Amino acid sequence: MTDKANATDFANRVALITGAGQGIGRVFAKGFARAGAKIAIVELNEAKARAVAAEIEQECGKGTVIVAPADVAEPADVDAAVAATLTAFGRIDIAINNAAIFSTLKMRPFEDIPFEEWRDVMRVNVDGVMLVAKACAPVMRKSRHGRIINISSGVVTLGRPHYLHYVASKAAVVGMTRAMARELGADGITVNALLPGATFTEIERETVTPEQKSQILAMQCIKRHETADDLLAAALYLASDGAEFVTGQSIAVDGGTTFR
Ligand SMILES: NC(=O)c1ccc[n+]([C@@H]2O[C@H](COP(=O)([O-])OP(=O)(O)OC[C@H]3O[C@@H](n4cnc5c(N)ncnc54)[C@H](O)[C@@H]3O)[C@@H](O)[C@H]2O)c1
Repeated sequence: MTDKANATDFANRVALITGAGQGIGRVFAKGFARAGAKIAIVELNEAKARAVAAEIEQECGKGTVIVAPADVAEPADVDAAVAATLTAFGRIDIAINNAAIFSTLKMRPFEDIPFEEWRDVMRVNVDGVMLVAKACAPVMRKSRHGRIINISSGVVTLGRPHYLHYVASKAAVVGMTRAMARELGADGITVNALLPGATFTEIERETVTPEQKSQILAMQCIKRHETADDLLAAALYLASDGAEFVTGQSIAVDGGTTFR
């Protein structure tokens, strides 16, 4: 029997992480690598993905990471990324659906969102999550073990104005998490969502003004800005063997901004 309280060893685990070329995904990739997992970076921006892979190789050694350039909303790209991961490492234990159209979005009233932009956000943020889960599920089923972690957002709970496409896409992620958890639980696969609050990374976001930054702090119980490390800690827990009885959940990691 495993000692569940200590079951956070990721040696022999393989984590496929989407959108890990920058921001939160980059911290996930480096953090899971440090915890002993092999990493597949599935990313649209190949140059950034390769830079993160170089950082991981420098710290954790050659052969610990691969880059699979892919648009997560393209079925053929996703299938190729999963195949490349299996060729390199032979298994996929953890899939983190982190890629999204997010930091490039302009905030504006929903009537002003161009329909093409609406469709792009749905395509990447919703289709992408489904396609990656769909490609990883059969692999995880075979080993009767899997952890799917979908990155949603606290904006769903808050009903944050001025990016309705983004809010709609992240609400879909919560619904998909619950339904996937029911479909995959019998095969030892858990599916959970993380709902970050406003998380500050190396990527500057023009849309967050200094006034908004102070408003964000005022809404939190814990009075400091959220970092990607706060999310990494939660993701490591959800991916661990010790979390095998936690599924279908939407876990807010936001300093106590929202209570579900
Ligand atoms: N930073 C925050 O405040 C915050 C808050 C709540 C939720 N989130 C969510 O956390 C996740 C990461 O956020 P972030 O701040 O690091 O975002 P980000 O915009 O900085 O990074 C997103 C990454 O996804 C990649 N990507 C975009 N489209 C892709 C596609 N079609 N295929 C493959 N890769 C693609 C980008 O190249 C980029 O590397 C996102 O799902 C975001 O919605 C972020």
